[in-house]
Amino acid sequence: MTQPLELVLIGAGQRGAYAYASYALAHPEEVRFVAVAEPDPIRRRRFAEEHDLDDSRCFASWEELIAAGQLGQGALVTTQDQLHVEPAVAAMEAGYHVLLEKPMAHTLEGCVRLVQTAERTGRILQICHVLRYSPFWRKLHQILEEGRLGEIITVEHRENVAYWHMAHSFVRGNWRNEALSSPMILAKCCHDLDLLFWNLGRCKRLSSVGSLLHFRADQVGPEIPNRCTDGCPIEPECPFSAPGIYLEYRPFRRLVERAAERGIDLERPNVWPFTVLSHDLSREGRLRALQTGPYGRCVYRCDNDVVDHQVVTMELESGASAVLVMHGHSHEEHRSMRYDGTRATLRARFGDPSEITIHHHASGRVEEVSLEEGGGGHGGGDHGVMANFVQVLRGQAEPLTSARASLESHLMAFAAEAARRQNRIIEMDEFRAQAEALAQQEGASP
Ligand SMILES: NC(=O)c1ccc[n+]([C@@H]2O[C@H](COP(=O)([O-])OP(=O)(O)OC[C@H]3O[C@@H](n4cnc5c(N)ncnc54)[C@H](O)[C@@H]3O)[C@@H](O)[C@H]2O)c1
Repeated sequence: MTQPLELVLIGAGQRGAYAYASYALAHPEEVRFVAVAEPDPIRRRRFAEEHDLDDSRCFASWEELIAAGQLGQGALVTTQDQLHVEPAVAAMEAGYHVLLEKPMAHTLEGCVRLVQTAERTGRILQICHVLRYSPFWRKLHQILEEGRLGEIITVEHRENVAYWHMAHSFVRGNWRNEALSSPMILAKCCHDLDLLFWNLGRCKRLSSVGSLLHFRADQVGPEIPNRCTDGCPIEPECPFSAPGIYLEYRPFRRLVERAAERGIDLERPNVWPFTVLSHDLSREGRLRALQTGPYGRCVYRCDNDVVDHQVVTMELESGASAVLVMHGHSHEEHRSMRYDGTRATLRARFGDPSEITIHHHASGRVEEVSLEEGGGGHGGGDHGVMANFVQVLRGQAEPLTSARASLESHLMAFAAEAARRQNRIIEMDEFRAQAEALAQQEGASP
């Protein structure tokens, strides 16, 4: 029997430790983690215990791990948005193939540098565009590839971010402020733009509008305190109440109903988004986190500046038109799509539940497409991307997508952001040429 593939993990946070490394625990015959770099001592120790690593294989930073020489064939880089390029480039230079979290980088230069390094060193660089690896999106792609809708004329794709998720990640949390993370259209929608590129081909030109409309100080009066726990008079009816979300589970009716069957202890909810609050998940620990940490802040009194709604209008090279609507005020988390073709209309929803329906023009038949269950995070995409990366490194499969293909969705996101800010239409050929020029400058530098 062949030995399991050996990987190292850089950043044992929410994504690295839970979304991806859990695959190795479920499939020990295929893959195992042999080292970790993580500055947080609690996270580092927990990962070491779960993956049976001794102290010599636990490092406090990616620099220390790289300096220890090549310890495995592949590296997962799952640090925060602004710490992707340096560790991923260093890992590729050190001989590792890399699975890197999205967004590839928070700057266009960083994205280009990553692709260039992968192509120069011959390393595999796969980006965690996890949705491509889930049964739902593969089925949707297959329907389009088979031409069952005829020629695609127009597409509407909505990324409906739930109001509490918006508050958690993009108002109070890690992706709230562009200077600290990345523009929302890149952070949240590089997946959506990647799916549109995958399904429809390259974009010819685009424009975009959007703003931060709601989560601003001018939405409330001076009587509203800085924290929900400081006697806020509107706390009981506020949808964004931190005690309501993190202590009373107000938005999570289904989670509460299914907690027992999913093995979740509501006294200590060991699942996202609660695991982001604190290491101490008891009610007291969570309350303390709300009283002292970022997640207890009033949503109208944060240092957030990323948009809460943005629309991107695209003309594709095929001649079809597409619109992407992203917003953070949905009653529930889901994506919804409508593809209109010359032979049929497809309507789809990716969420809980997911569904795809095709309305055939000629026969009037309405076809409910049967969908395979995609268990786990992102409809099965989190483990799906790990499975593909592992198989590729074991020589058993081809990568489902390349770093160069991933670059395209990032280019679209940067172009959309430039279009929104500068109030203009961006011609993608010109934008790509600028990226190419950047690549040459990067290539010229040592
Ligand atoms: N693919 C997806 O759908 C998806 C979903 C959510 C988040 N993400 C992306 O995943 C990335 C990680 O997000 P997260 O929520 O896991 O963040 P996180 O903060 O929970 O994890 C990042 C970890 O990196 C560690 N770290 C910091 N400096 C380090 C260093 N010098 N060396 C090694 N490790 C270091 C941190 O201590 C932390 O534990 C982000 O870029 C985010 O945008 C992707």
